[in-house]
Amino acid sequence: MPRILLIMASVRASRIGDQIADWIHGRNDIGLDIETVDLRDWPLPMDDEPHQPKQKGFDGYTQEHTRAWSRKVGPAAGFIFLVPQYNWGYPAALKNALDHLYHEWQYKPAIIVSYGSRGGGKAADQIAQVFQGLHIQPVDTRPALPLKDVARTGADRLADPAAAFAGQEAGMRAALGQLAEALAQAPAGA
Ligand SMILES: Cc1cc2nc3c(=O)[nH]c(=O)nc-3n(C[C@H](O)[C@H](O)[C@H](O)COP(=O)(O)O)c2cc1C
Repeated sequence: MPRILLIMASVRASRIGDQIADWIHGRNDIGLDIETVDLRDWPLPMDDEPHQPKQKGFDGYTQEHTRAWSRKVGPAAGFIFLVPQYNWGYPAALKNALDHLYHEWQYKPAIIVSYGSRGGGKAADQIAQVFQGLHIQPVDTRPALPLKDVARTGADRLADPAAAFAGQEAGMRAALGQLAEALAQAPAGA
């Protein structure tokens, strides 16, 4: 079964992204093979590769951590990007992780799941534009999870993610279905 990477873009010390990643796994009734990738575990130095991987004549990464990141992303058939909105944009850690590679992302389908006070739509729009440059192919449905009236515990964790995002269940399942369809249409070996 093709492997999907769920890329968690929040690397903050205190965060809710991991709770939302678990919520996504709980909506995967169709049994996609989804592995969570926490960008905290991939602390790539900022833009430390000297060459652009897209460039003609590019002859490989110079840093072992980039080669390891390439080995992680390259075999994946598709992605779920879990994107919090920070100051109307998406996290710098995610942009840096995207920019370290190029071909490993290309022509693969992806779901954009955003979250923020009103669902994080501005972050989702920004990353959709970057996907055009990287030729990542987002599915039509983009779950956007609103945090505005969501109950948190004293530790600033979500009190009950399932209750908080009950209204987004159908959209999340629809997006997973679209990802499965896109994977089924991908050429064999792609
Ligand atoms: C630096 C920073 C900027 C933020 N900017 C926004 C914003 O523009 N819009 C919004 O709705 N929420 C914003 N928030 C609130 C986040 O949506 C909220 O903190 C959320 O929990 C972040 O996800 P995380 O905990 O998984 O990192 C911001 C939070 C941080 C830390």
